[in-house]
Amino acid sequence: MIQIENLSKSFTLHNQGGAVIPVMCGATLTVEPGECVGLIGQSGAGKSTLMRMIYGNYLAAGGQIRIGNVGVVGATPRELIRLRRETLGYVSQFLRVVPRVPTVDVVADPLLQLGVSERQARCRAEELLKRLNIPERLWSLSPTTFSGGEQQRVNIARGFAHPYPALLLDEPTASLDAANRKVVLTLIEEAKSRGAAVLGIFHDQSARDQVCDRLVDVTAFAP
Ligand SMILES: Nc1ncnc2c1ncn2[C@@H]1O[C@H](COP(=O)(O)OP(=O)(O)OP(=O)(O)O)[C@@H](O)[C@H]1O
Ligand SMILES: [Mg+2]
Repeated sequence: MIQIENLSKSFTLHNQGGAVIPVMCGATLTVEPGECVGLIGQSGAGKSTLMRMIYGNYLAAGGQIRIGNVGVVGATPRELIRLRRETLGYVSQFLRVVPRVPTVDVVADPLLQLGVSERQARCRAEELLKRLNIPERLWSLSPTTFSGGEQQRVNIARGFAHPYPALLLDEPTASLDAANRKVVLTLIEEAKSRGAAVLGIFHDQSARDQVCDRLVDVTAFAP
């Protein structure tokens, strides 16, 4: 479902004399449906960068990325939007939202984009917010003033609202207490059992042990 071949990446720092920083070369990995692959490697090794390239936020310098039968490198904006709407979910480390949009709408939004009815989308959003222990009194408020852990859980609810066939999770359990971490791991296990291909970054060893079928060390792709 997720296929990466010979991927390379460097950053050009235009505001610092055009310095070129190579971060990755020859990155190759696959994630099958129903499988969770964990990315490991020390801080700064390029785990999040690899994820951002797969999501099409960062441009790869070379190589191939395929999600199902869609190529990400060289995709048109329209193709990328469609891929993100239907096929590829991404839970980033930090929630980024439009100010003043209520939490329940933030979570329901991916479903509304797919043409799911307002009632159904809201119902699914509320179900996830409940499971992730976001108090009901917060649902009608914007998450911008929420605590770090609350924002992370809203982000996760949003990422799991639609049953994406492929999911990218960047430290989804990082700032959560034990009870909520357990909920997130259960959501990941459920996604796997419905056949989703999951690529995750987990700093927490026990989380990794519980959900990852395999680990890929990105330091092997150091330039
Ligand atoms: N937008 C950017 N511009 C310049 N350099 C960047 C950019 N994004 C990432 N880098 C560099 O790429 C390298 C990899 O960063 P990345 O965030 O992918 O690491 P990571 O493995 O996710 O680390 P962590 O475990 O700390 O989250 C770092 O040296 C970082 O400084
Ligand atoms: Mg990172």
